[in-house]
Amino acid sequence: MNLIATEEGPRTLQISVLRHNPQDTESTPHWQTFELEEAQSMTLFIALNEIRQTMEPSLQFDFVCRAGICGSCGMLVNGRPGLACRTLTRNLPDKITLAPLPGFELIGDLSVNTGKWMRGMSEHLETWIHQHNLEQTDIDRLEERMEPELAEKIYELERCIECGCCIAACGTARMREDFIGAAGLNQIARFRLDPRDERTDADFYTLVGDESGVFGCMTLLGCEDYCPKDLPLAAQIAFLRGRMVAASL
Ligand code: SF4
Ligand code: F3S
Ligand code: FES
Repeated sequence: MNLIATEEGPRTLQISVLRHNPQDTESTPHWQTFELEEAQSMTLFIALNEIRQTMEPSLQFDFVCRAGICGSCGMLVNGRPGLACRTLTRNLPDKITLAPLPGFELIGDLSVNTGKWMRGMSEHLETWIHQHNLEQTDIDRLEERMEPELAEKIYELERCIECGCCIAACGTARMREDFIGAAGLNQIARFRLDPRDERTDADFYTLVGDESGVFGCMTLLGCEDYCPKDLPLAAQIAFLRGRMVAASL
């Protein structure tokens, strides 16, 4: 392996992982520390794989794309949410702590069920285009032309990879289990923008016009600070809040 060469030689990293297997009644949450030598361009993905291959085969964590696209490798890195596959160890101190994202069902160790949470949120908010009296053959209505600027705005919000970092970073989500978080509010903003979706502000108000939605947000901004896709979450939430206030009058 290509080790990072410094005057003192490659760094030895101490990686402490919060371990717990909720399926095992004997398991209790505890820290386990692993030592390994840092390599060139090492990411936490590479480090965790090395740990699993050479030291602890039972270690659980999720990765699919290794390129910041699938959203499956979110975890707390030194207490902050982030994508492990996009986190270079050279930007971290010698001692690193890794813990599962809070706010999601724990599968084991660093693996959490963000998919279940996202699916629940998506079903609750009905995140698909709603058209009244749409016939199966009425494809033209779904394929209606759209101004490129508007398509670009919608595309911008669709860049969400459902990693869960915004939920883990949000104080409101810690206090309210039913809070749909920035990921959910971003979805509403996306469908509100889409002229093919015939839902009105009054319809959206029934979905997010309460404390589990846009009025639960306390503008803590952790969501935007830790969104790995740099989505403009605070601006979307502020805009939605304005629309929902107007819809309530
Ligand atoms: Fe992840 Fe950002 Fe989407 Fe939240 S809004 S789930 S942080 S990509
Ligand atoms: Fe939470 Fe983001 Fe609002 S961190 S409180 S959803 S601004
Ligand atoms: Fe897909 Fe990290 S493995 S985002």
